[in-house]
Amino acid sequence: MKLIVAADKKWGIGKNGGLLANLPTDMAYFKEHTSGKVVIMGRKTLESLPGKKGLPGRTNYVLTSNKNYEAENCTVLNSEEELWEALKKHDSDDVFLIGGAAIYNNYYRFCDKLYVTKIDADLGADTFIKNFDEDKDYEIISESEAVTENGLIFRFTEYKKK
Ligand SMILES: NC(=O)c1ccc[n+]([C@@H]2O[C@H](COP(=O)([O-])OP(=O)(O)OC[C@H]3O[C@@H](n4cnc5c(N)ncnc54)[C@H](OP(=O)(O)O)[C@@H]3O)[C@@H](O)[C@H]2O)c1
Repeated sequence: MKLIVAADKKWGIGKNGGLLANLPTDMAYFKEHTSGKVVIMGRKTLESLPGKKGLPGRTNYVLTSNKNYEAENCTVLNSEEELWEALKKHDSDDVFLIGGAAIYNNYYRFCDKLYVTKIDADLGADTFIKNFDEDKDYEIISESEAVTENGLIFRFTEYKKK
């Protein structure tokens, strides 16, 4: 399993239920990595997407405790047990955690690769993930050149489980 996220220098990932920044190059990077794959998200992240629908061109799973929850283009999972059961159907290399913090923080340990877009700014987030640089089980294996967009500098960083 893999994880893909954009985080600011404090490991903030969201504010007021939405993303911290509009970075089209990062969106393209996200799409390139997840197209044709399986994505796992929390209910709040799903509800932040356009039309509150699953992402096109991907197999979408949404976690919620609400047993009556329905969302277009999504399979609803009501527990961690249901998540592991559903994932038996897929090659784990094809599965991406796509947020939000509840999902990343609880399940990142199951990922062997982390794709982190590191934004070099403090964007005043209210939602944070674990600082992967402080997790001794992960190491950086590549970092792109800096990209500048909409006044922000960011780098595509890949971590691998040791
Ligand atoms: N920067 C990025 O790359 C990125 C990516 C994605 C999201 N985000 C941001 O992250 C923020 C949302 O993160 P969040 O942590 O508040 O919410 P979230 O992780 O998107 O969703 C949390 C919800 O998921 C459900 N859930 C989680 N674990 C579950 C489990 N084991 N069993 C059943 N349901 C489970 C619960 O839904 P119920 O309450 O319905 O039970 C929970 O309230 C937003 O600001 C969003 O824009 C950022």
